[in-house]
Amino acid sequence: MSQLTEREQWGTKIGLILAVAGNAVGLGNFLRFPVQAAQNGGGAFMIPYFIFFLILGIPLMWIEWGIGRHGGKYRHGSAPGMFDVIWKNKLAKYFGALGLFISMVILIYYTYIESWTLGFSIFSIFGLYSNETSATMHSFLKSYQGIGESTHFSSIWPAYILMLVTFAINFWILFKGISKGIEKLARIAMPLLFLFAIILAIRIITIGTPNPALPENSVANGFGFIWNPNFSMLGDPKIWLAAAGQIFFTLSVGMGTIHAYASYLKPHDDIALSGLTTASTNAFAEVILGASIAIPVAVAFFGLSATEKIAQGGAFNLGFVSMPIIFGSNAFPMGEVFGFMWFLLLFFAGITSSVAMGQPVVAFLEDEFGMDRKKAVATLAFVVLAAVQFVVFFLQYGFLDEMDYWAGTFGLVVFALIETILFMWVFGADKAWKEMNDGGDFQIPKVFYYIMKFVTPLILMVLLAWWFIESAIPTLLLRNADPNNIPYIWGARALMVTIAAGLIYLVKKAWENNRSEELS
Ligand code: ALA
Repeated sequence: MSQLTEREQWGTKIGLILAVAGNAVGLGNFLRFPVQAAQNGGGAFMIPYFIFFLILGIPLMWIEWGIGRHGGKYRHGSAPGMFDVIWKNKLAKYFGALGLFISMVILIYYTYIESWTLGFSIFSIFGLYSNETSATMHSFLKSYQGIGESTHFSSIWPAYILMLVTFAINFWILFKGISKGIEKLARIAMPLLFLFAIILAIRIITIGTPNPALPENSVANGFGFIWNPNFSMLGDPKIWLAAAGQIFFTLSVGMGTIHAYASYLKPHDDIALSGLTTASTNAFAEVILGASIAIPVAVAFFGLSATEKIAQGGAFNLGFVSMPIIFGSNAFPMGEVFGFMWFLLLFFAGITSSVAMGQPVVAFLEDEFGMDRKKAVATLAFVVLAAVQFVVFFLQYGFLDEMDYWAGTFGLVVFALIETILFMWVFGADKAWKEMNDGGDFQIPKVFYYIMKFVTPLILMVLLAWWFIESAIPTLLLRNADPNNIPYIWGARALMVTIAAGLIYLVKKAWENNRSEELS
């Protein structure tokens, strides 16, 4: 272990907050959230969303900051070492390997999507899409992704090159380190992101009714759609599951990334206020800004029922098909500029999250193997670039979706349950509470002690049990999958199992090495 070298630290408090907020604020806020809200009853979705924000999101945020800062005191910047410290058991570090697995798998596919946003921001400036229809814009996106031909792209290579560029920027930032890389990025990208989002939201709010002949197609009705609750839908457990899934993904909890950032805090740096500020900043970016852009403008341009159909088609349809149609239409003055802002804002949101997904593995290699940063980043880059090939070339066969399902949805709940039990029950609720409040700019209200100890783990168990009863067998056996995709989906599973096995092996090796170093 690199015991003798100084561990990195955040430069400033505001830089740290911006970096952790950047970790959380991502594509999930601007693409995934509006689609989830529209698919799950608009205003009705917001009720379980806020409930889960309070009893899952905020508590998990504090738990992860707590585990992370505690692990950092022992020079551990990733979950295997952190779990090993809070649970004196040989198995602890292997549970921690899940934190490496989840962040790394999400990094692989997330950064590819992020590269589309960079590409589309360039296409916006050059006016590559204008006066598109739904059919032509679909074929624009598909041909960009290498699925089918169109007049726009004859091969996947533009997307491929932008993918490489995006990864290169990510790895470069990771290589520059915590304060000179990640923090600096956040200090530049986060204010710009908010500025662009506010400008876009104001522009969209003032767009009113683009086609006076169709007065019901208005921004106001778009807001009505998102915010008017259809209470009858609250009885549907799917809405509750969707809301919980969104809370996890958007706050980046259950991923292992918050821990990594928190490990670079000083031992008595505040957690209470910083954790709350991060969660609230993310909620603002999502509920105020994310909700005010894509859906309201889609309703204004396409009408309510067409927007619902778009939302059913998923996050990519809304972001990469509907939005370009709107920005490219004559009814949206200066659409090139606003389109550029929209996609660049997505890129900033994406990159401040994806660097966070790279950090746990980099920290693991540095802290547990004594690698220098350059070698650690190069190792991660090598594996991730090998794995992303499958995502790029098998996109149409559901490869990306399968990785998103297991790592980006299911895995988050499992990891969150494990960390909550380890911290609040094995390490001990009283010690954990002391750790989270130590150095705090305010005392976390005592009610959260009970929420973290009882309510959060219980809800997580209920979510998993519900999944097990409802979805485990059909999902595992691919009962609803398109038969053409099945070999590729198994391929995605094989890739994930390989990554998991590799990480478990590395964890084993690291602890064997460290043991022999201690003995010698
Ligand atoms: N929290 C990140 C997002 O919302 C992963 O995209």
